[in-house]
Amino acid sequence: MRRARSAHLSTDNRTQRKRDFTTVTALTLSTAGAATLRADALVVGVAKGAGSKSGDLVLAPGAEAVDKAFDGKLATVLETLGASGAEGEVTKLPAPSGLKVPVVIAVGLGAVPDGDDAYDAEKLRRAAGCAARALAGAEKAGFALPLASVEDAGAVAEGALLGAYAFTAYQRGENSLAPKGAKDNGPKLPLAEVALLGTKPRDKAFKAAAERATALVEEINRARDLVNTPPNDLYPESFAAVAAAAGKEHGIKVQILDEKALVKGGFGGLLGVGQGSSHGPRLVRLAYTHPKAEKTLALVGKGITYDSGGISLKPAGHNETMKCDMSGAAAVFAAVVAAARLGLRVNVTGWLALAENMPSGTATRPGDVLRMYSGKTVEVLNTDAEGRLVLADALTRASEEKPDAIVDVATLTGAMVLALGNRTFGIMANDDAFRTSIHEIAEEVGEASWPMPLPADLRKGMESPTADIANMGERMGGGLVAGLFLKEFVGEGIAWAHLDIAGPAYHEGAPYGYTPKGGTGSAVRTLVALAERTAAGDLG
Ligand code: BES
Ligand code: MN
Ligand code: ZN
Repeated sequence: MRRARSAHLSTDNRTQRKRDFTTVTALTLSTAGAATLRADALVVGVAKGAGSKSGDLVLAPGAEAVDKAFDGKLATVLETLGASGAEGEVTKLPAPSGLKVPVVIAVGLGAVPDGDDAYDAEKLRRAAGCAARALAGAEKAGFALPLASVEDAGAVAEGALLGAYAFTAYQRGENSLAPKGAKDNGPKLPLAEVALLGTKPRDKAFKAAAERATALVEEINRARDLVNTPPNDLYPESFAAVAAAAGKEHGIKVQILDEKALVKGGFGGLLGVGQGSSHGPRLVRLAYTHPKAEKTLALVGKGITYDSGGISLKPAGHNETMKCDMSGAAAVFAAVVAAARLGLRVNVTGWLALAENMPSGTATRPGDVLRMYSGKTVEVLNTDAEGRLVLADALTRASEEKPDAIVDVATLTGAMVLALGNRTFGIMANDDAFRTSIHEIAEEVGEASWPMPLPADLRKGMESPTADIANMGERMGGGLVAGLFLKEFVGEGIAWAHLDIAGPAYHEGAPYGYTPKGGTGSAVRTLVALAERTAAGDLG
C-alpha cells in the first residue's frame, strides 16, 4: 500500500513537501522520449479530422514515436476501437512491444485546429485532466500531447495535475482534520507522477512553467480539500488555524480576529451572521508582501463554513451541499499562498470572512438591525442573505488599507446560478475596464465567466424604513441586487470587482475534463493570473 506522497519537482531538489490533506502528484519534465520512457502509460492526443471525410481521426503532434511503435497504424487502430477524437473521449489500448509502457491512452481534443493554429490551451488542459482521471491508481504516466509553446506545456501540466485529484481523507485518514483511524479504503489514489514529454527540461522557461503549474495546482487542490472537508470539521476556528499554519510555512503574515476582537472592532455583519452558531466567526487577514512591489491587491472571500439559511432556514434539498459556501474564502486563501510560492512582485492581502450560519436561540432574527463595521445599519430581512453581510465588513476593512484594487469572491446567490448555469461565474464591478480585464484574464486561464451589470434602479428595492439598507431587495436580478449591496461597502475611489461563483464552485455531476466531483477550486486561476498581471504592471 502506498502512503501519502510528497510533492517534488524533479527539476529541482528542494526539500520534499507533504500536503496536509491528500496526496500530491509529482510533475517531471522528462528527458526521455516516448519510445524510451518507462511508465505505466503514455498519453497521446487524437482529434476529429477537418477534411471532407467525417470520422477521420487525426493523431495530434507529440504522438509520432508512439505511432511508429504501432507501425504507423495507431489512428486506424483507434478508429477500429471506435475513437472519434471528441473532447472528453478516452480510449485505452495495450502498447506494442517497442514501447517501455504497457498501455497507451488516447484522449480526444475535439476538432483539428484551422490551418497553422495550435490546439487551444483549455482543450489541452481538459484532455490532460481526462487522461489523469483515467489513470487513477497508477504510478507514472508520460504525457505526449501537442505542445506548440511553453504556455501549452503549462496548460497540460495544470490539466494533468488538476485531474490527478481525489478527496480521500475520510476514507484513508490522511487529513489532520478528519477523525483518526479512518479506514484504508475508498477511491483510488490519484496518479502519482506526471511526466511531461516534448519539453526542454533544461530550459529555464519550461522549468518555470512546471514550477508555476505545480504551485498553482497544489493550491487549487488545497482549496478543493477545504471545500470538501465536512462542516463538522471545518468551521471558522479550524479554517483560521489552517490559514495560520500555511502562513507560517510560506512566509505570509496571518492575523486572526476572534469573536472578542470582532466585538471590540464593531464587526456587526460577521457577528450577526455567526451568532447563532456554537462555532464563533473569525476574520482572517493574510498578507503576502514583496519588497519591490509597486501595487497592492486585496482579495476578499466569503467563508460561510455552513449555510443552513439561519432562522430563514433553507428547505431540505437546498442545504446538503452548503459546506461549499466557503469556496470564495478557500479561493482567496489558495491565491495568496500561490502568489507567495511564486514570489510575485506584488503585495496580495487576503481577507477570509468566516462564519457559520445556523438557527438557534441566539441567532439573528429576520427583522433585526445590525450595525456594520462601516457604521451603516442593515435590516436583516432574510437571514439566508448572509454572505453579503460578512463580505460587507471585510470589504470595509480591506478598503481602509487603500489597496489598488479589491476583488471579492463568493458563492453569493442562487440567482447567479439561474442566470449563468453551473459552470460560469458572474463578474460585477464599479469600474468597466476592471471588469473587462478580469473577464479577459479568466478567459485566458480557461475559467468560464461573464460580465454582469449593476443597474442602479435595483437599489430602491433595498430601502428599509428602519435602517440604512435592507439585506434583500427585488427577487428578479437577485445576483445583481447582492452586488449592489456589496458596492456600498467598498471605499471611495477603489477599483472593485465581485465574482459570484455560486455555480462553478461545487460540481455535483459526473467529473469531466480536470473537474472532479465536489469542490472545484473555481476562481483561483483567475485570481493568480490577476496578481501576475498586476505585478507585471499590465493593469492600470
Ligand atoms: N449560499 C447561498 C447561495 C448559493 C446558492 C450558493 C446555491 C451555492 C449554490 C446564499 O447565502 C443564499 O442563500 N442566497 C439567497 C439570497 C436570497 C435569500 C436573497 C439565494 O440566492 O436564494
Ligand atoms: Mn444563504
Ligand atoms: Zn450563503
